[in-house]
This record gives sequence, structure tokens and C-alpha cells, in this order.
Amino acid sequence: MTFLTRRKAIDMVDAPGHGQRLRRSLSWPHLVGLGVGAIVGTGIYTLIGVGADRAGPAVILAFFIAGLVCVCVALAYAELATMIPASGSAYTYSYSVLGEGLAWLIGWSLILEYSVVCSAVAVGWSGYAVGFLQSAGIHLPIEIIAGPHAGGILNLPAIFIIAAVAGLLLIGTRESASVNAVLVVFKILALVIFIALTIPAFQAGHFEPFMPYGFASSEETGTAKGVMAAAAIIFFAFYGFDAVSTAAEEAKNPGRDLTIGIIGSMVVCTLLYMGVAAVAIGAMPYTEFAASGEPLAHVLRTLGHPQMATLIGAVAVIALPTVILAFMFGQSRIFFVMARDGLLPPRLGSVNARGVPVAVTVGTAIVVAAIAGIFPLAEIAELANAGTLAAFTAVGACLILLRLREPERPRVFRAPLFWLVGGLAIVGCVYLFISLPSITQERFLIWNAIGVAVYLAYGARKSRLANPESHQPALNKALD
Ligand code: ALA
Repeated sequence: MTFLTRRKAIDMVDAPGHGQRLRRSLSWPHLVGLGVGAIVGTGIYTLIGVGADRAGPAVILAFFIAGLVCVCVALAYAELATMIPASGSAYTYSYSVLGEGLAWLIGWSLILEYSVVCSAVAVGWSGYAVGFLQSAGIHLPIEIIAGPHAGGILNLPAIFIIAAVAGLLLIGTRESASVNAVLVVFKILALVIFIALTIPAFQAGHFEPFMPYGFASSEETGTAKGVMAAAAIIFFAFYGFDAVSTAAEEAKNPGRDLTIGIIGSMVVCTLLYMGVAAVAIGAMPYTEFAASGEPLAHVLRTLGHPQMATLIGAVAVIALPTVILAFMFGQSRIFFVMARDGLLPPRLGSVNARGVPVAVTVGTAIVVAAIAGIFPLAEIAELANAGTLAAFTAVGACLILLRLREPERPRVFRAPLFWLVGGLAIVGCVYLFISLPSITQERFLIWNAIGVAVYLAYGARKSRLANPESHQPALNKALD
């Protein structure tokens, strides 16, 4: 069983662009922009309704808890990303710190996360796209705008947006910094306008009772309820910040810029999210918007701001696809790195002449579209959260273990109070995981049982660490 514990030496980790340094051109405002751009999406635009349904007005507290856990994870990410500046994020760190067996499970969880996030964001997009069309007088039949759980047959808009984004990736589109910058401003501006328009309707009475379902997650009524049940789903709204840590090599002054970039983007998002939640709940009883597919637009419409509702819908329709783009692109990177390590068949890491991983992109798009077409948003987002929480727990563990094992190794960025930060990341993620509904935990375990079988049947024997002579040069070249 030594294959389970074999580790890749940190200095052996294949960094893309190995041997060269990326230009140090980013300062903290760029990094805050990058972080906020990758983070703000379906979580705040749509899942806020689901969160309110689970926690009542205390959804604000749920935002705070999920944000706090994510700040700790983000700090751990920053330290590891600057030490191991390679593709593959949590999988790559785990391979060097926790050993191949756990790294495989983390990679397998990341595959789940990156795929299912795309499905969830697509369903969120669909809610706003349908609302936007309705405000323009175009009414699509329920059969083609919702899955069977909501009285329809297939969520076609969600399938459409996944096909469109996959199409963009196939012609070689990557995230563009300038487009991202504009969309970040739009996304934030729309939320600030929402807050400004909603404040006048604020009634403190809507916060009573504050925690109608208590604090801990409980499933007595069929669905999970309570502040922690809401935090476990609202957690979705915060991830994407690893985009900041992957830019670590390019920071002008990593120690300062990364700290401000990561803490800054998380603090901006946490405060903004809590603000949006507070004014939405203050404006009307939360039950009125909890079930809406476009809760923010719904609140504005109810308050008599139909044009602004259409505007916020338009921002969501334009901006959310970039979140899908980022995660679908990230998905192919995970496949690449795992295939390069010999844990997945080389075919899954192959790219065409223009560097596009066609097979992985098409395969991922089909699966992700099928999920988005049929399943409800909350269930999809919860499954994505389960995979992410597993990866984030590993990142917290890697931070602590590496500090103990290699305290002298140079660190460009050092997370403050590593015991506290790493410990809170681990305990927080585990607590969020056990607050997920049991059906999600079961699905996650089934996914991992399949993962173990795949590893034993393939990766355990084919791993590059076990066969150092087979270097798969073509794959390395594709990644560099
Ligand atoms: N944080 C991202 C979102 O909310 C995944 O869409």
C-alpha cells in the first residue's frame, strides 16, 4: 500500500512555464478585481433565496460564517500557491504533502466541483435569462425552462448557456483581463444599486424571529434547515478566490499584494453579500423571494422598480457566463495535470494543435448540461460544495503539515497565525460538510467510491511516480 503514501517532492512539481518567471505586473487592486470577478456569481444572485429559505433572516449570519471559513482557506491557498506555483491547485499541493492516495481523492473531488459548479451557475443564469425575456414580453413555456422537479421537462436555457461557453472554449477563448474588469464593475455596481434602492423599504420587523430554524443544520422537515444548513449552501457564493492565489507569481510585492488581494476580495464580498441579504430581508418577508429563480430582480420588481429589475437581470445574464468559463477552463487543467502524473489516461490530457482540450471540453459540457437540464439548483450547488469542501480541508491540512515538516523552506507569502488559520479552515470546512443534507453527503461518498475503484484499477499502477521512466513528453509539452 506504499503507493497511497508516495509523495511528489515539491521541487519536482511541474510548473507550467518551468524555468521562466512570469512578469511581476499585478498590484493589489488588480488582485482584488480578479478575486471579486471569479467569486461573485450565482451564489449571491440566486442562492441567497435558498439560503433565506433555510435560515430565515439569519442568512446574514450564514454569509458571515461561510465568509470567515473562506478567508482562512484563502490565506492557506496563498501560502501554498506561492511555494508550489503550478497548475492543479489543491490536488497538486496534496500530492506533495499528503501523498498520492489522498491527492487522487482531492483531484477526483475537484473534478466533481468544477463540473457541477458549471451546472449550478447555468441554472442560476437560466432563472435571470427567463425573467429578462419575460420583461421583454417573451414568455417561454414551463416545459422548456425548468426540470421535472419544477413542473417542466428540461431547463433548455441552462443547456444553451453551457453549450455556448463550451463553444467559446473550443475556439480557444480564455478569460480576458479587460473583459473581466468591466464585468466586475457591472456586477458590483448592480449589487450596490440593489442595496441603494432597497434601503428605503427597510423594516426591522422583518428580522423577527431572527433564527426561526435554529443554528445547527437539521433535516426534521425533509429539507435541511438552520443557519448552518444555509451556510453550507451559501458557501457556494465565496469560492473562485483561488484565481487570486494562482496569480501569486505575477504579484509585484507578493507579501503585501496577496494579503490585500485575498483578504480584500473576501472582505469586499462578505460585506457586500451581508449588505444585500440585510436589505432584501428588510424590504419584505423573506418567504416572498425565497423561491424565486431571480430573487434580486423579484425584490426590485415588487418594490416598484421594474426597469432596475431588468437591469440587474441583464447584468446577471452578461456576467454569469464568465464564471462558467473560468470553471470549465479550470476543469481541463485538473484533467491535464492528473493525466500528466499518470493517474488518468493520457487521452484526457491531450490537446489539439491550438492547445484546446477538445475531448475533455465536449465530454464535460455534455455531462454538465445534462445535470443542469434536469436537477434543481440547490441540489447541484450542494454537491459542488461537497467537492470543494473536501479540497479546502486538504489545503488547510497542507498548510499546517508543511509548516511543521519544512519550516525553513522559503515562503514568499506567509499566512499569519498558521495554526489558527489552518485549524479554522479544517474545522470550518468539516462543519460545513456535515451541515450539508445527508443525500448530498451520500452522493459525494458514492462519487469517491467510484474514484477509489478507478484509482486502484488505473492510477495506482500507471502513476508516473511508480514509472519514472515513462515521461509522457507530449503531455508535458502541451502544458508548458
Ligand atoms: N462563487 C461563484 C458563484 O457564486 C461560484 O457563482
